[in-house]
Amino acid sequence: MINTKLIKLKPDFDPALILPAAEAIRSGELVAFPTETVYGLGANAFCETAIKKVFEVKGRPQDNPLIVHLSRLGHLTEIAINIPQIAYDLLAAFAPGPITLILQKSDLIPEIVSAGLPTVAIRFPSDPIAQVLIKLAEVPIVAPSANLSGKPSPTQAWHVYQDLAGKVPYILDGGSCDYGLESTIIDLSVADPVILRPGFITALDIKDATGIDVIEYQADRSGIESDFKPKAPGQKYRHYSPRATVLILKENSDPGERLNNLLIGIEEFIRNKISDNNLRNDTTKEILVGLFLAEELSKKVNIEHFKKFLYNSTCYKVKFKLESYNDQQGAVDAAHDLFNRFREFDRIQADLIICSAEQMSGAGIAYMNRLGKAAAYEI
Ligand code: TXA
Ligand code: MG
Repeated sequence: MINTKLIKLKPDFDPALILPAAEAIRSGELVAFPTETVYGLGANAFCETAIKKVFEVKGRPQDNPLIVHLSRLGHLTEIAINIPQIAYDLLAAFAPGPITLILQKSDLIPEIVSAGLPTVAIRFPSDPIAQVLIKLAEVPIVAPSANLSGKPSPTQAWHVYQDLAGKVPYILDGGSCDYGLESTIIDLSVADPVILRPGFITALDIKDATGIDVIEYQADRSGIESDFKPKAPGQKYRHYSPRATVLILKENSDPGERLNNLLIGIEEFIRNKISDNNLRNDTTKEILVGLFLAEELSKKVNIEHFKKFLYNSTCYKVKFKLESYNDQQGAVDAAHDLFNRFREFDRIQADLIICSAEQMSGAGIAYMNRLGKAAAYEI
């Protein structure tokens, strides 16, 4: 067991507080740190033994490559070769920020970083703590999300602590991440640039800001066979899953009908649970349902009515934890809070989590992508 030091950093933090962590990176140790998207688990990108530790600590499959984080554009040519002009155009428009580019890899980057692929993922985080850490470490930093493999990405320091306490020497605590979902990944190693993982920056944003056409993320890219080498290898693994079963509440123009679908979905879940676990006579246990719903819809939920209905039809007592998100600016708030809600609902030991679906535009594309990977089915 390693003694994990949690270093709290206020917005006006003294960079000297980060020196020991930067020193740890240089000497081949791991440091978890905040970025504007999610927390990352950092290691020296030139140190193979440190990178091996990243895979071990996360329980990450070896064929899932890592993103190299940089603080200065000047370092890009050490990491990547044959860099196309559109890479510079995209970086000029969106970096530092939540965008990752796939480029041809230079020989300086160890094979283990790119899992044997001829390409490398690079990104310039905008979070000041991440930037200071990379600058002080004086090396590029590989950083997958700082969660155990398969768990939701961490968006607050306590999420990281939950997964990695005793396994890493430092966690830098910068509070809640600005975006709450991982960066947009764009493959520039192919003739027609394509989004491999949707994030807050969409194909439309890119077109508006730069005139560059990139192919929007295509959901069916994740329907992957076991021995298939996918373009963003991370996509073939089960992701972002809380312990509880997650269901998606489909959109419906009639809120009354939508709430009815919600209720029936819970009822069916309980019935399945009863038959699965042979619990037909065990009605002593309470079922806890976490709801994460758009604000307008959440206001229409009548918990007392739900409880009565479910008790009458299943003989189970059902408790609810209702959380809502503001849906005035697309799904920005939903995307920001999703992973935190997953962790919170797990912490209170919810049996079932139901999240409302959002439209497939703006942040909604990324929100639905992560929700889809966590969910068992739609109701
Ligand atoms: O926002 C983010 O990108 C966060 C923060 C910490 O920077 N990082 C992150 O890393 O999400 P990770 O390891 O959880 O996800 C990286 C994704 C994986 O799906 C991986 O397969 C893909 O990037 N990737 C990495 N290198 C690649 C490459 N050369 N070609 C295609 N996909 C790549
Ligand atoms: Mg991850």
